[in-house]
Amino acid sequence: MSPPLVIRPATPADIVEISKLHARVFGPGRFARSAYRVREGKGHLSRFCLVACLGETIIASIRNTEISIGGKSGAVLLGPVAVDGAHRSLGLGKTLIHDALAAAKTGGAKLMVLVGDQPYYGRFGFKPVPMGQIVFPGPVNPQRILACELVADALSNYRGIIAAEPQAEARAQIAAKSVRATQS
Ligand SMILES: CC(C)(COP(=O)(O)OP(=O)(O)OC[C@H]1O[C@@H](n2cnc3c(N)ncnc32)[C@H](O)[C@@H]1OP(=O)(O)O)[C@@H](O)C(=O)NCCC(=O)NCCS
Repeated sequence: MSPPLVIRPATPADIVEISKLHARVFGPGRFARSAYRVREGKGHLSRFCLVACLGETIIASIRNTEISIGGKSGAVLLGPVAVDGAHRSLGLGKTLIHDALAAAKTGGAKLMVLVGDQPYYGRFGFKPVPMGQIVFPGPVNPQRILACELVADALSNYRGIIAAEPQAEARAQIAAKSVRATQS
């Protein structure tokens, strides 16, 4: 019998396995990805990062970075989401994205942003951001910048350059401690 699938918040102990999953899924090009650039030199985890595990093995993960846009906080950058090749098209990506959106909304975020394919992310409520409204620190195809409003009309309040929130790592550590306390 295969072990049950568990989806749970990512903890610092998962970072090595998440990094290996990213290496398998994205290869060496992963470091040039927009989310990596935004996080550069900042913490690895936010309280909205999730992993999907079969037993001890991480088979999928979603990383989410708390960000400000034009200096205004309350936004989250989604990405990357990665599902191991052997477990694709089973709805894991969909579940992780739905759960991350719900966690971000419950956590008080107003807007989720990503760089990705509208045909995939459109089903979750992501829409193209008007050209030039949201700017990434590195080169990004502006047509692939998508946003999902977690609060009505949130997008109109955000304009400018994206930066990782400096206090996000501390919030993630507090959230991980409360997960451990609930489990013990
Ligand atoms: C994209 C990804 C996360 C989806 O995970 P998944 O668990 O296979 O997703 P789901 O099972 O929820 O959905 C699968 C469906 O989405 C479709 N899909 C996947 N990527 C797509 C894309 N870029 N554009 C359009 N549709 C896409 C699949 O064709 C599949 O369709 P089907 O249900 O008709 O077979 C996974 O394919 C993956 O890890 N890909 C490599 C990494 C990547 O590209 N990540 C996204 C960028 S950060």
